[in-house]
Amino acid sequence: MTYERKNIAATSGYVPGEQPDAPGVVKLNTNENPYPPTDEVMNALRAIDSEALRKYPNPTAEPFRKTAAQLHGLDPSNVIATNGGDELLRLAITTFVEPGAAIGTAEPSYSLYPVLAEVHDSPIHRVPLNDDWSLPDDFATRMNDAGAQLTFVVNPHAPSGSLRNVDVLAAIAGQLDGVLLIDEAYVDFVDPARQYDATTLVRERDNVLILRTLSKGYSLAGLRFGYGLGAASLIGPMLTKTRDSYNTDVVAQTLATAALSSRSEAAKTWTAVRNERDRLSTALREMGMNVPDSQSNFVLAAAPETLAGGARAIYESLKTQNIFVRYFDRDRLRDRLRITIGTPEQNNALLDALRELTNH
Ligand SMILES: Cc1ncc(COP(=O)(O)O)c(C=O)c1O
Repeated sequence: MTYERKNIAATSGYVPGEQPDAPGVVKLNTNENPYPPTDEVMNALRAIDSEALRKYPNPTAEPFRKTAAQLHGLDPSNVIATNGGDELLRLAITTFVEPGAAIGTAEPSYSLYPVLAEVHDSPIHRVPLNDDWSLPDDFATRMNDAGAQLTFVVNPHAPSGSLRNVDVLAAIAGQLDGVLLIDEAYVDFVDPARQYDATTLVRERDNVLILRTLSKGYSLAGLRFGYGLGAASLIGPMLTKTRDSYNTDVVAQTLATAALSSRSEAAKTWTAVRNERDRLSTALREMGMNVPDSQSNFVLAAAPETLAGGARAIYESLKTQNIFVRYFDRDRLRDRLRITIGTPEQNNALLDALRELTNH
């Protein structure tokens, strides 16, 4: 006997990247920041007292929301704190999509989107990206034709790392009938010279929701803290109606606030990651791999065509050497590896192993 709803029984759930914890593992498979959280975060952790744990936390994470609002030049009513960015995705679906109505995404993208759509019993409408991972010109029209009430666009794109400019997103938001969720999980790693800032869309439009997370830029994947930015009319119903009563805990709220307050410290890790991203991309290209320009903390490298077994064989071989990268057994990704940018030492270990495998 099964008591699951039909759509739940039919879905297999999200498959996260491997989380090996053996000593000596070079872990370049789940896009964590290779550097530790800021001193301010660790001091805030040590300062948490029993009284703070005894009581319920601030229900809407108000102190955090004020800090985030100030950072982005917005009002706290434009900010919602969530249990990781993932919770914002689920909340947006619950709040803006009638059960059974379509949800839109570009393909390939973050593989959690279709899983959440299945859980909601909504069809996911997938529009393939162009060969260079850019969005097709008729993206919004196709979403409207499919009746998408919510559309996910990840920027910088995962898993390619490529960045769309704000004017592309503004045009899509202007054409869409539904809500546009811009998933900026990796935005902290964008080169400042690109002057990318989509928060302008939050001020101008009532259908743009931006996802941010502290998992990547702030080295806090274990904390589970993210937030959303949007017009008060979008944030309001999630804040007051669909959110769990205490969706973020007191430890997470305290540390997340300390993280944003020490942004300039965290930003030093972003610079280090960008420098290593350039070095790694160049070295991989020298081995004959196609690596699109990444503005994220990972690169997507196509295996050299001459190598027997392709990307899967490289992935398997690296794994036997305790080096973990991500292989996706999915259309358009089977010949590629997604490699998280590590410390210089980790990247060197990867490059040495790859040089051996590719005879470079
Ligand atoms: C594209 C994308 N969006 C959102 C998230 C959510 O991150 P988190 O729930 O850790 O904040 C991730 C995590 O890997 C991601 O890759």
